[in-house]
Amino acid sequence: MNATVLKQHLIDPEICIRCNTCEETCPIDAVTHDDNNYVVDASICNYCMDCISPCPTGAIDNWRVVARAYSLEEQFSWEELPPQQHAATPEASDVVETLEDDVAAILAEAHKGVGGKAIAPASATKPTINLYNRGKPAIATVRGNYRITAAEAETDTRHIILDFRDQSFPVIEGQSIGIVPPGIDASGKPHVVRLYSIASPRDGEKPNANNVALTVKREPNGICSNYLCDLAKGAEVQVTGPFGATFLMPNDPAANVIMICTGTGSAPFRAFTERRRRAMPQAPGKLLLFFGARRPEELPYFGPLQKVPPRLLTQHLCYSRVAGAPKTYVQDRIRVESDMVGNLLREPATHVYICGLKGMESGVDEAFADICRHAAIDWNAVKGEMRASGRYHVETY
Ligand code: A2P
Repeated sequence: MNATVLKQHLIDPEICIRCNTCEETCPIDAVTHDDNNYVVDASICNYCMDCISPCPTGAIDNWRVVARAYSLEEQFSWEELPPQQHAATPEASDVVETLEDDVAAILAEAHKGVGGKAIAPASATKPTINLYNRGKPAIATVRGNYRITAAEAETDTRHIILDFRDQSFPVIEGQSIGIVPPGIDASGKPHVVRLYSIASPRDGEKPNANNVALTVKREPNGICSNYLCDLAKGAEVQVTGPFGATFLMPNDPAANVIMICTGTGSAPFRAFTERRRRAMPQAPGKLLLFFGARRPEELPYFGPLQKVPPRLLTQHLCYSRVAGAPKTYVQDRIRVESDMVGNLLREPATHVYICGLKGMESGVDEAFADICRHAAIDWNAVKGEMRASGRYHVETY
């Protein structure tokens, strides 16, 4: 090793779901792909880190200290990342260490821009990730496919149950799985894998079932959503994952969990609620749901939610398009509940999760900031502390 040693940004081909987010995000076109892999051109990448936080699987967050940069051709041919090369001499080893520190500093800086590197709640179960990939998917069988928006609703949202039979597919609440839609796109490439949050608790739809449920909204022209929504019972589906190591449910029964969502963003919160109901029904921590939809008919799981006891879950269903009623977004209702929300935000056992439409993120942040201003709480300090302790989580799209 010598002065030409450099740190190289790489994408893990085993974890990457080929969603194209990194290529779309890179402002200088350093990310490219072929039919096999997404790769980073070392001669272009300037470590701006814009691509890091949008990556849904973390495949993008890989680094090697190298004497010679891996070429695009080498990266295109990989099925897995090469190990870190060893330094040939003690001096070279110092260089490697310095560069590794450098990488850590760059990452810390990049994660600061998005409010600090996301971390899991301290009491969350350690998740299993990346057991199955596109080359070696799990094969799930459809056990059920039910519409969960009213028949007259504009949106067709479905509850789909996938059974893994004898394959081990361990998940915990808050994790996602990848679905591989069959077929190829207009340019002859296989369709990209799509991620869906699991809507069931870790032990399945019924205790000890080896299955997961998904909440899927049929999107006009959506390749994967139409594939899933049209699946018949008994059909087989290729599944990758599990994914997700930070947006996880706290196990602490004393944890207060504020869950804020729109539409299919409710999926992880169904999982959280069912987990509490099943594993710790007497938990002293509060579960609080702010759920936004156009109308009750469009709100996924409206019927089942009516049966969840208020002692387990406090529900605030917020409608934006009910004739004769004011347009209400989740952030409007959070403001109405300012006393209770302010009191919860003061408590170190309170966790916040936001999942759904991207636009909601800033609206909710402003609502929290307003509530805190009136309650003489420093919202920026509280949010920083919540992020640093794995108690503030956002998953929007
Ligand atoms: P809207 O009636 O303005 O579209 P969707 O049905 O499109 O998935 O949306 C779910 C709910 O989220 C709807 O009630 C929608 O209201 C609402 N919504 C749209 N934009 C925002 C936003 N920026 N913040 C909070 N809620 C929003």
